[in-house]
Amino acid sequence: MTLSHTASKMPFLNLSAVQYAALKKQADELLSRMTLAEKIGQMSQFTSDRDVTGPSIREGYKNDIREGRVGSVFNAFDADFTRQLQQIAVEESRLGIPLLFGYDVVHGFRTIFPIPLGMASSWHPDVLEEAARIAAKEAAAAGIHWAFAPMVDISRDARWGRVMEGCGEDPLLTSLYAKAQIRGLQGDDIASVETVAACVKHYAGYGAAEAGRDYNTVNLSERVMRSIHLPPFQAAVNAGVAAVMTSFNTVDGVPASCNPLLLDQILRREWQFEGLVVTDYTAIMELIFHGVAADPAEAAQKAVNAGVDMDMQDGYFLDHLEQLVNEHKVTAERIDEAVRRILILKAALGLFEDPYRYCDEAREKATILAPQHLEKARQIARESIVLLKNDGTLPLSGSPGKVAVIGNLVEDKGEWIGPWHGAGRADEVTSFKSALEKRLPLDSIRYSKGTAGENASNADNEQAREEAIQAARQAALVILVVGEREYMSGEAASRTDIRLPEDQRLLAKAVLNTGTPTIMVTLSGRPLVLGDVVDSNEVLPPHVLLHAWWPGTQGAPALVDLLFGDADPSARLPMGFPRHVGQLPLYYAQLPTGRPLDKIDPDPRYSSQYIDSPNTPLFPFGYGLTYTHFEYGTPKLTSTVLSLSSPEDKLILTLTLTNTGQRKGIEVVQLYMRDPVASISRPRRELIDFKRIALDPGEDKEVHFQIKTKQLGYLDQHLQNRVESGCIELFVGPNVEETQQIKFNLID
Ligand code: GLC
Repeated sequence: MTLSHTASKMPFLNLSAVQYAALKKQADELLSRMTLAEKIGQMSQFTSDRDVTGPSIREGYKNDIREGRVGSVFNAFDADFTRQLQQIAVEESRLGIPLLFGYDVVHGFRTIFPIPLGMASSWHPDVLEEAARIAAKEAAAAGIHWAFAPMVDISRDARWGRVMEGCGEDPLLTSLYAKAQIRGLQGDDIASVETVAACVKHYAGYGAAEAGRDYNTVNLSERVMRSIHLPPFQAAVNAGVAAVMTSFNTVDGVPASCNPLLLDQILRREWQFEGLVVTDYTAIMELIFHGVAADPAEAAQKAVNAGVDMDMQDGYFLDHLEQLVNEHKVTAERIDEAVRRILILKAALGLFEDPYRYCDEAREKATILAPQHLEKARQIARESIVLLKNDGTLPLSGSPGKVAVIGNLVEDKGEWIGPWHGAGRADEVTSFKSALEKRLPLDSIRYSKGTAGENASNADNEQAREEAIQAARQAALVILVVGEREYMSGEAASRTDIRLPEDQRLLAKAVLNTGTPTIMVTLSGRPLVLGDVVDSNEVLPPHVLLHAWWPGTQGAPALVDLLFGDADPSARLPMGFPRHVGQLPLYYAQLPTGRPLDKIDPDPRYSSQYIDSPNTPLFPFGYGLTYTHFEYGTPKLTSTVLSLSSPEDKLILTLTLTNTGQRKGIEVVQLYMRDPVASISRPRRELIDFKRIALDPGEDKEVHFQIKTKQLGYLDQHLQNRVESGCIELFVGPNVEETQQIKFNLID
C-alpha cells in the first residue's frame, strides 16, 4: 500500500498565524514604499572585509549599503563593527532598512565546540542543541542575526573535506541533529536577543560530490536524493528554520541554485517552506561555469525564477534584475515575494524596532567565553571523543611513571579548533600541554615534537623523530598526539590520500615500534585511513587509540579528563573509518549486490569484493568503546506481526542491558532494520532508532524500542512512500556490525 503525503502547516520560526500575519503586514507596508531598485538591494548580500570565506570581495560595499543596494552583510561581527555598518544602513540610506548580519556560526562563535562531525559522535542531540544555544548567545551579542548553520549534507566519502561540518553518513542521525541545532540557534523566541535565525545548508546533494572532490558533479537519482539526502532538510523545515542555502553542485544536470524541482516543487510546494532562500557564495555566477547560463543576466534570471530570494556575493541580482523585470523576464510579483520574506525575517528579529539591539558591547563582553560556556565546551568535547581501542591502559590510575608526550600538536592551539571556527581564536584555546600539566607532575613529563614540520627537510624530520624515539624508549608510557592539519579538511580541502600526513605517520610508526605502551590520540576533520599505523604487521599496535576529531577550545582538558577517568568515553562513530581510500564511498547502508560476499556458492572468487582488502571498514559506523563492558540480553518482540493498514500500529522490542564491568558507563544501543524482499532492493541495514543508556557497575535495565508500521516505509521507484507485506529483520547491538537479529511480519 502507499502512504498518503500529509503536508502539515510549516511552523516557520515557530510563529503563530497571528504573529506571522502581523510581520507580513509590517513587511508589506514597507514594500509598498520601496522602489524596484531598493527591493533588489534587499535581495543582495555581500561579505564584509572582516573575514574571507570565498573567492571574491566587493570593493565599496559600504557605499552600496548607503545607496540601499545591500540587504544583508556577512562575515561582519563584533558589536562595534556591526554597529558602524548598521548605522550606514539605518541613518544614511533612503528608507533606513536595517541590515541582516549573517555569519558561519558552525560549531561555536568564540567558544569553539568540537567540529560538527565530532559532536555527531555523541549520538546525543542535546549536545548539539546546547552548543548551538551558546553559539547563538555569543554570536547574537556580537551583532550577528543569522547563522549559516546547520550544515546537514550527508556524506559517505571521507575524501570530501566538508564531512567535518556535517553529521556523517546517516539520514536519521543527521535529521535529529538538524532539529537539535535549529532549536539551539533559534530557541523558542526568534525575537530574543539571545537567539539567531538559522540557515540549513547546502541544499542539496552537495555531500555526494563525485570522488569526494569539493564542488564536483553530483549524480543522484531523485529517489536516492529524497530518501537519503533530503530528510535532514525537511526535518529542518519542520523545525522552523528561517532560511535555506542552495548548494554549489548540479543535481541531475541542473545546478541546485537554479533548480525548480528542489526550490519550487519540493521546498515550497511539498514542504511549504515560508522562509528565505539564499545562494551559496557566488553560486549564481557559477551557473555560467556550469554551462547553463550564457551571461550574468541569464544566470540571475534562472536563479530568481527558480526561487532564489537572496544573492550571496555575485552582485548579479543587483546588476541585472531591474532590466529583467523591465523586459518581463522576471515578474514584479516574484521580486515582491522574495523581498517580503527578507523583510519578514528582519521584522521577526525585531530589527525595525531597534536595529542595534544585537550590537551591545556590554552584553558582548559578558557573554563571549563566559566560564559556563567553556565548561559546556569541555563537557561536550568529552562526549565527542571516540575510544577506538583500549587494552585496559585507560583510564590511567595512580602514577604512570615517566611519560613521553610526543607530537607537535601537544603545544599547538589553533589546530584544535579546526576549520569554520567562527570568530574563535587560537590564543583562547587551552593546549594539551597545559591541560596535562594540571594532572601530572612536571618532572614526570618529557616532551618531544617528533616532527620538524611537513615542509621541513627529511634530515630535520629524521632528527626530530630520533629525539621522539629516545624519549619513548626512556618512558614507561607514551602519549602520542598526531593528526591532520587544520587546512586539510573543510571547504576546498578534499584529499585523495586520507592517511595521516607523512611526517605524522612516520612519527607514529617509529614511536609505536619502540614497544613502549602508547596512548595514541588522533585529530582530524574526517574519518582517517589508519590501518598502516594501527593495524599493520610492520608496526606494533597502540595500547589505546582515541579519536578526538578537532575538539575545540576546551578539547584538550576534555581529553585529559578521559585519560584519567574523570569522565568516561561514550562517543560512537557517525561515519565508518575505511581501511583504504580505494573503498570510498563507503557506508553501512549499502544495497546488497547480486553477488554477496557471504554466499560462498558457486565460486566465491566472483563475489563483490576487492582482491586486496576486506569490504568492511576498519571501524564501523556506530562503533566506540567505553571503560566498562555491557552485555546484551536476547531481544524479544511483543508481537511477531504488525498491521500494514494502520500506520500507527506498533510493537515493542525489549532487551536487558547489563553493565558487567567495574565502572559506570553509557551504552548507545542501536536498532537497525532490513527489508529483505521488497519491490526495490533495500539497504542491508538502516538505523531506525537508538538509546543512550547510563548504567552503574552491575546494574541492568530493560531497553525498549517502539517500532511502528509507518517507520518501515520507503520510496518506491514511482517515488511513492510504500510499506509492503512480508518479513522485516531487526538488528540490535552496540554498532552496525555486532548485532543480534530478530524478525517479524508485516501483514495485510
Ligand atoms: C561558502 C560555503 C558556505 C558558507 C558561505 C559563506 O563558500 O560553502 O557554507 O556559508 O561560503 O561564508
